[in-house]
Amino acid sequence: MTPLLPEQIAWAPGGGFRILDQTLLPLEERYLVLTSLAQVAEAIQTLRVRGAPLIGIAAAMGVAVAAEESGGGEGEPVGVLQAVREACGVLGATRPTAVNLRWALDRMLGCAERAAASGKPLARALRTEATAIWDEDRAMCDRIGEAGLPFVPDGATVLTHCNAGALATGGRGTALAPVYTAHERGRRVQVVADETRPLLQGSRLTAWELTRAGIPCTVIADNMAASLLRRGDIACVIVGADRIAANGDTANKIGTYGLALAAKAHNVPFYVAAPRSTIDLATPAGDAIPIEERGVAEVQSFRGVVSAPRAAKVWNPAFDVTPAGLVTAYITDAGVVRASELAGRFGAAA
Ligand code: MRU
Repeated sequence: MTPLLPEQIAWAPGGGFRILDQTLLPLEERYLVLTSLAQVAEAIQTLRVRGAPLIGIAAAMGVAVAAEESGGGEGEPVGVLQAVREACGVLGATRPTAVNLRWALDRMLGCAERAAASGKPLARALRTEATAIWDEDRAMCDRIGEAGLPFVPDGATVLTHCNAGALATGGRGTALAPVYTAHERGRRVQVVADETRPLLQGSRLTAWELTRAGIPCTVIADNMAASLLRRGDIACVIVGADRIAANGDTANKIGTYGLALAAKAHNVPFYVAAPRSTIDLATPAGDAIPIEERGVAEVQSFRGVVSAPRAAKVWNPAFDVTPAGLVTAYITDAGVVRASELAGRFGAAA
């Protein structure tokens, strides 16, 4: 029987780690083994592996791979530490918006520095730390699933954008975690997935993982969401996040802001689901969140078909910022919180 969740990432027995190449879904399920820093950076940059928490996990594993590549076994901690620092620089530059990437790299660097100071083999310590980041993410997804369960009653239809499911995390996802948990508890639940132009994470990935798990999913083009919300049969919107600023402003896949506006206009609750690794209290508000801009080719053609004349300019921001005022609540691994409660719940002293 197909397991509920796809295996999105795993250590490879022969060295390195394995990812499911998400650029090929839903047509092909192909796994790639990444055994070098360059391969890991390429996989993150091209979205073979994607979604804020999974980017963090892949980068953490990438740092461990880089340490192994530089001979990080028993000897030479100074040289390996230098390689780890360089790897953190390379991986940190791959995608600027998801704060989980920087969060994971800071943890890996701290781990390497502690191991070097105490004369321990760095590569082994880094592999253990990357595994811990992955395990913790899986547990946080489970807690988000429990926290969000009341918003997914029997018979609910949930609208989501992009992919914030198993394919985006080390576990059962963030936005989709309450859906999986409700389904497991026997509730009849269905999802409407925005297609999510330009790279179709909603129609290619969300619809793939949900239908594979036996959860009914309806795909709509992004421009259909407002009309659907107006009809009144959406219980709630749940989306993921790439970074939540201290005031609750939330960066997520481009199109999320418009969806939040439409939900507000039709009195549909709009929830952001995220683990603590996505909450960035050092960034005061959404204006300070760096927004990744990607290449024009992603907009100029659509599944191989030219969709704009070459003479036209193209703008391709990968994310937008939804102001905190449009977010009903945040479904986190520490429970459901309002924007005003984020700093207290997730601050250093909390
Ligand atoms: O560009 P992507 O596919 O990495 O963007 C992903 C998203 O915007 C997700 O909604 C976000 O990372 C949350 S994943 C749990």
